[in-house]
Formats: sequence, structure tokens, C-alpha cells
Amino acid sequence: MSYFVLRLDSRKLHSAVRLLPLREPRWGQIPFLSSNRFMSQEKVPPLTAERYRVSRLPFSEVSVEDIRHFQKIIPGRVITDESDLKAHNIDWLRTVRGHSKVLLKPRTTEEVSKILKHCNERGLAVTPQGGNTGLVGGSVPVFDEILISTALMDQVISFDDVSGALVCQAGCVLDSLNQYLAELGYTMPLDLGAKGSCHIGGNLATNAGGLRLLRYGSLRGTVLGLEAVLPDGSILDCLNSLRKDNTGYDLKQLFIGSEGTLGIITALSIMCPRKPSAVNVALLGCENFSKVLQVFTLCRDQLGEILSACEFMDSESMRIVQTHLKLINPLPDNAFYVLVETSGSCGKHDEEKLNIFLEKAMDSGFVTSGTVATDQGKIMSLWGLRERITEALALDGYVYKYDLSMPVEKLYALVEETRVRLGSSAQCVVGYGHLGDGNLHLNVTAKSHSDALLSALEPFVYEWTSKHNGSISAEHGLGFKKRDHIYYSKSAGAVHIMQQLKHMLDPKGIMNPYKTIPSTD
Ligand code: FAD
Ligand code: MLT
Ligand code: ZN
Repeated sequence: MSYFVLRLDSRKLHSAVRLLPLREPRWGQIPFLSSNRFMSQEKVPPLTAERYRVSRLPFSEVSVEDIRHFQKIIPGRVITDESDLKAHNIDWLRTVRGHSKVLLKPRTTEEVSKILKHCNERGLAVTPQGGNTGLVGGSVPVFDEILISTALMDQVISFDDVSGALVCQAGCVLDSLNQYLAELGYTMPLDLGAKGSCHIGGNLATNAGGLRLLRYGSLRGTVLGLEAVLPDGSILDCLNSLRKDNTGYDLKQLFIGSEGTLGIITALSIMCPRKPSAVNVALLGCENFSKVLQVFTLCRDQLGEILSACEFMDSESMRIVQTHLKLINPLPDNAFYVLVETSGSCGKHDEEKLNIFLEKAMDSGFVTSGTVATDQGKIMSLWGLRERITEALALDGYVYKYDLSMPVEKLYALVEETRVRLGSSAQCVVGYGHLGDGNLHLNVTAKSHSDALLSALEPFVYEWTSKHNGSISAEHGLGFKKRDHIYYSKSAGAVHIMQQLKHMLDPKGIMNPYKTIPSTD
């Protein structure tokens, strides 16, 4: 199959271009994310406003006339039934809950534009929502904000099989895009455990990192262009597919990582690499964290350009996936595990390099045991041990989730200190993450939410991170839960400029209020 590159003019975008259908998302991949199971299995958290004592800002309330107006813009796609809204009002972690009365499902940029224009004129607050897999409480309303879902904006617009530039709507599910590209010999430049549910627009809005950032870099480099609807309904057209473009400020960067606070991303262009034809995965056991670091240095040194992921997890993370998901650990009794992935275009060459690396790692005593997978089934089983920790933790209890970046040699000391600090007040303290990116996921679970445990964790974790020149959000964003902690990682001057930008684009503050950027009051 081959596709044309179409000249894109956002004003004509959805009438002029041929939309290419995608396959259904593979919900089975993360069954926990399917909304029916999600709601039936898990208890409902208290309202965010009550747990966190937030006051509602003076936005208008949705009226019968507003609903009628939305019905005219998107007939049959205005959801007001309480049971249909339930899953959209609660985050994936089941830690925050809003009480939105209406969910809108536009299909086109023009529909989003009309919706936002009306909301802005009426002073109605909105929360954009993609796959609702965000982990910082940004994707659900705090009060009664109108939910605008990208679920029906799921069409591929074009794919250029020479440059690898994919242009698509924001609601395409990441894994569906991957399946689409696989048939053309390409792959998406990002991968994450939530791929079966998260939308590419949500990925941009959070500047998601994931499992292969080490290889393909961040979305700030791979996204070539985007289209967004601003709060007043105007359409910002930055949807080009050029590798190089130095004409003025790079406005798309403002929307990458803006977490729905500046506008709604409706379409994007992203540079996709060739799908590697040879993939190998090795799971290695180490007896302490300094050996984990030695493995990391060695694999960078020996695997060079074929290294595509380097992840780590501790024995507690392994225990949790074994207990809750019944996954099998092929290397029992190690204190730490490192998952190394290579991908390239020549299997023989990659295997040779991997074997030399493994021999060196064994001979120098960095690893105590290891297993290598080359066939797809075994590769997926090894990846499952790392990718599904998030899901296993959610089954363990209430999760306090921290996503930190810091110098790699400091990564695990925080987990150890936290364990000592919390003692028996925590059910489980785990550390895992993207070793290759200096990104630690410190997670603490308990039977239920407790203010005392939260006070033991915060500001301790943020102060510790800041003291070691780290960031309090490496990849998940700030959302609702972390917005007021931004000062641990950004200067007051930088936050002030962010507030001014927010005010310039969204003077009425209707876009995802209470999230990401602290208010000026
Ligand atoms: P949502 O959760 O729906 O929204 C996230 C934020 O973006 C919200 O603030 C929302 O308002 C805004 N938003 C959504 N769509 C738009 C849009 N079109 N325009 C403007 N704003 C929008 N994250 C990582 O970085 N790396 C990982 O490895 C990773 N792994 C995960 C694994 C699991 C199992 C889970 C549950 C989550 C994981 N995440 C990870 C977090 C999450 O999946 C990502 O943040 C993802 O990018 C969110 O996409 P989404 O479509 O679900 O967005
Ligand atoms: C991961 O790396 O698994 C994700 O960022 C999700 C998480 O932190 O649990
Ligand atoms: Zn992560």
C-alpha cells in the first residue's frame, strides 16, 4: 500500500483530505483499562473538591440551552447520562473524581472550534480528555467542567512512506497507529504501557516519554507539526511535516506538554522511524544498584546504536507483578532487574553485539543471571514484567505515584530512604523506571488514602529531588496533583512567564482549570 502526502490547510483539512480508517484498539492489551471492568471492579474515590478542599472558580454552569446548542453542533454525540459519564469523571488510578454533567464527542476540528467558541463566550470551563490514562489527575474534571473527548477523532490523514511523516487526528489510539504503521514497515517513535488506550493527542499534551525515549528521543523532537483549537475557537495551524523550519517561534512546542491548559490539540504530524526487523530483549539480574549502573554503562558502551531500551525494576516491583498478575519471573531471587532491548536491521550483527555485551556483563560480575528472548512471545513476556508494574500496583491498593528525574547514580537512594522513613505505614515501596533516561518511578501503596502518609511523603520526596537537582515530573506532567509543586523544579520567574502565556491564550481561564500552572492569586 502506498499513500499520498496531501497538502494540508487546516481550514479545509477535514473536507479536503482522505481519511484512512484505523483498526479498533486492542483493549485486551491492558484489560484493566476497559471502562466496564474498571468501574465494576474498583471502588469510587471521594470527590476531588472534598478530598483536596478546592473551591470552585466562578465559571458558568451548563444550562439546558447550552446542551441544545451542543446538540446542534454535534447531533447525537452529547452525552449527559450519568452512568455513561461515570468512567470519564474518574482517573485511571481512581484517586480523583469530578462531577461533569456533559461529555462532548466531536469528530472534526471545526466541531471542536464551534464548541470552544461557545464555551468561551458563556464562561464554561472544559477538560479535554483522550484515553484518560493520565497519572496526575489532569484528564478528569475537578468540578463540573465540560468533558471534550477526542475518542471519535481517530482518523489517519496521510502517511508519507518516503519521509515517514504520519499525519493524523488527535484521538488515534497509540497502539492502533502502531498496527497501521507496522503494515507499512514503520513504527511509532514512542511506546508506553498504556498504548492500548492512550490517544496520540493525549501523548502530546503530556509530552509522554515511555519505553523508547532512549532510542527515538522525546516528542519535542519527533513531532513535526500540530493543529490546535484555542479557547476562543480559533484554529492554530502549525501542521507541517518539515524536518527543518526555523521561521519564528516554534509554537507547537508550547502545546506539547501543556496538559490541556492552552487549547485542544486536534491533529498532528509525527516523524516515524522504520520498524526494526531484528529485536532482542535480555532480562538481567543484579545483586545491588551499583551493579545496575555498571550494566547501564556497559550496555551503552557495547550496544551503542542498537540499544533501544534500558529499564530497571527492584525486587518489590517484581514481587508485585507476580502477586497480582501471576506473571512468571524467570530469574527469581535478584535484588534488581535490568531489561535491555536492542533493535536493528540485521539480526546476526545485533546478536553478536548482544552476546559480547552479555559475556562481559557476566564475566565482570555485574549480573548474576540472565535470559534472552528473540521470539515475539518471549519478548512480550519479558516486557510484561516491566510494563505491567503500573497495573499491578493499582491492584495492590491506593497508589502514591512519583515520577522523578535526577542524576542516574542517585536514583535508588531515594527509594531506600523513603522505605526507612515510612516503615510499616506503607504497604509497599517500589522503585522502577527508565534507567536510560535517569527517570525513577517511586511508588508507595497503602490500603487506602491517608493524609498522614501523604504528609510523610510530601514535601519530603520533592525536597529530596530538588536538592539533587532533579525534576519532580519527568514525564507524567503536573496535572491536578502536582501543579503547586512546580516551584521545586522551575524558578518563580519561569512560572510567571507561563502564567502570562496562559492568560494571553486563555484570558477567561476556561481550559482545564485547577491544573498544571498555579493560579496567580
Ligand atoms: P489523558 O489521560 O486523557 O489526558 C492527559 C492530559 O492531557 C490531561 O490534562 C488532558 O486534559 C490533556 N489532553 C488529552 N488530550 C488532549 C488534547 N487532544 N489536547 C489537549 N489536551 C489534551 N506516561 C509516560 O510518559 N510514560 C509511560 O511510560 C507511561 N506509561 C503508562 C502506563 C500505564 C499503564 C498508564 C495507565 C499510564 C502511563 N503513562 C505513561 C501515563 C499516560 O498514559 C500518558 O500520560 C499518556 O500520554 C496520556 O494519554 P491519554 O490519551 O490517556 O491522555
Ligand atoms: C512506566 O514507566 O511504567 C509509566 O510511566 C507508568 C508508571 O510510572 O507507573
Ligand atoms: Zn515511565
